[in-house]
Amino acid sequence: MYGMVNKAVEDMVCAMHGEAMWEQVKNLAGVNEDVFISNEAYPDQMTYHLVGAASKLSGTPPAEILEAFGEHWVLKTAAEGYGDLLDAGGKSLAEFLINLPDFHARVSMIFPRLQPPRFQVSHVTGQSLHLHYHTHRTGLQPFVIGLVKGLGQRFRTPVKNVRLIQAAGPEADHDTFLIEW
Ligand code: HEM
Repeated sequence: MYGMVNKAVEDMVCAMHGEAMWEQVKNLAGVNEDVFISNEAYPDQMTYHLVGAASKLSGTPPAEILEAFGEHWVLKTAAEGYGDLLDAGGKSLAEFLINLPDFHARVSMIFPRLQPPRFQVSHVTGQSLHLHYHTHRTGLQPFVIGLVKGLGQRFRTPVKNVRLIQAAGPEADHDTFLIEW
């Protein structure tokens, strides 16, 4: 994944636990970089190892770290660095989610080698929808949940419920979330 992802993990760990903890996380993860270059692609495994090490050292389950990272991504990383892109995504939580299928196409203009997830929406009502999440990566469902909660905060529309209602497996080629606000 692009360096901006690892940089955002660093930013979150430092904000929550301080820089000394970040050095320990990098050591345990076997990551030697002093700095991550935002627009350079790094192996996905590096990000997974950083999250795994942060989990071990803080005693927090990886799913909790990924969910917190999703919120951090929307409220800090994207809001501070890519506010215009977020603004272009919609004026309300519902509008943003309905436009989500097109979102990473715009991100790809900045990061041409992006391997983004693919989203679809269905069952749209005034207060809920189903979000379909296609990815070639594994284990990032809690990250999606955190992203959705972060979007709820951004649009001051608290998300009452976001949960996986069908996991990718023998019966489905992707994950489906129910989102209610
Ligand atoms: C301006 C805002 C955003 C930017 C710049 C951005 C950029 C990126 C980047 C660079 C990656 C790593 C993939 C790679 O390097 O190949 C990524 C992954 C991802 N993004 Fe975004 N993103 C943004 C907002 C969002 C939002 C709002 C959502 C969903 C609610 C989202 C969902 C995801 C997910 C789930 C992944 C993990 C990769 C996967 O599932 O395969 N992103 N994004």
